[in-house]
Amino acid sequence: MEDKKLNVAVVGAGYWGKNLVRNFATAKKCNLKYVCDLNEKTLAVQKTSFPFIETTTDLQTVLNDKTIEAVVVATEAPAHFEIAKQVLNAGKNVFVEKPLTLSGADAKKLTVLAAEKKLKLMVGHLLEYHPAVNHIKEMLKSGKLGQPYYMYTQRVNLGIVRKNENAWWSLATHDISIICYLFDSEPVSVAASGQCFLQKDIEDVVFATVKFADGKVANIHCSWLDPHKIRKMTVVGSEKMVTFDDMEATEKIRVYDKGAAIKQDISTSYAEIISLRFGDIVIPKVANGEPLAAECSHFIDCVLDGLPIRSDGADGLRVVRVLQAGQESLKNNGVPVNTEKF
Ligand SMILES: NC(=O)c1ccc[n+]([C@@H]2O[C@H](COP(=O)([O-])OP(=O)(O)OC[C@H]3O[C@@H](n4cnc5c(N)ncnc54)[C@H](O)[C@@H]3O)[C@@H](O)[C@H]2O)c1
Repeated sequence: MEDKKLNVAVVGAGYWGKNLVRNFATAKKCNLKYVCDLNEKTLAVQKTSFPFIETTTDLQTVLNDKTIEAVVVATEAPAHFEIAKQVLNAGKNVFVEKPLTLSGADAKKLTVLAAEKKLKLMVGHLLEYHPAVNHIKEMLKSGKLGQPYYMYTQRVNLGIVRKNENAWWSLATHDISIICYLFDSEPVSVAASGQCFLQKDIEDVVFATVKFADGKVANIHCSWLDPHKIRKMTVVGSEKMVTFDDMEATEKIRVYDKGAAIKQDISTSYAEIISLRFGDIVIPKVANGEPLAAECSHFIDCVLDGLPIRSDGADGLRVVRVLQAGQESLKNNGVPVNTEKF
């Protein structure tokens, strides 16, 4: 007997959406039926690559088709909320590209709507499907790093300079999603500083500090105005420290058996001394695999088999709250802003 396939439509096949079209068009358990875009030329390109798809400029055609079970939304972020709401109201599962919405209030509405309708809502937090990130997640879960203390990320390059959003919204979404995923903890406040050099009121570079309820802390540096292409993060734990460099072709993770411990020093009448440990550096073997293919397969499997989604609506909401708090902090000279406001 042939395995059941999920009937899918992709809405928005621009710079990023075309990658989603390719993945859903070639995924084993998926039948990509429609690609919907406002741009006829974009549709023509997709039809040439995948002649079996139907193309349309009208979202309603997709929503009216009762055979469609899931819709992937890869339009620009300001349109996410309205389109995702229509998809859920039409009784279809939805995958929304990051960021889920532009406000916590809208993200919450989508999460509630999906729960009411008993439909899946997934956000395209791509890096939660990266094999190296998941390797570090396993190390944290198994306690190999000890107690996680803090982490910092760098996502900088020259370009792509966006006109409708700043570097914080465009780039930091990925880092915030990784940080929340790895720490598995609630972010409570964000203090962000940045500067607009190229365009009025659009930050090209941002330095942000995110604090968590349990005392963990994370720093994010993102920029599209930088001479280096860096995609790197460091996690510091009480037992070990680990780096993830996504620009490395193979040796993406390094685990440092380094740490510091406070001990009692009997010779100096029980004064406390700090001992530093400098041990081996290990490069673990991490499975290769395209994160986007894993992300798309996860969505298909979760919808077909009714499984919980890793980057679900709650995860999307948590990330949007950090983005919004960071935005408010940027406009207020870096004062810390609570995430629960949003
Ligand atoms: N996961 C990642 O690594 C990653 C990378 C880049 C972009 N993105 C996200 O992907 C989304 C799209 O970004 P992009 O850079 O591809 O933008 P884009 O402008 O290149 O593409 C958007 C497409 O959506 C179409 N569109 C807009 N409104 C529509 C509507 N109502 N109905 C149908 N089609 C519509 C446009 O015609 C365009 O082709 C954004 O949310 C962005 O944040 C994710």
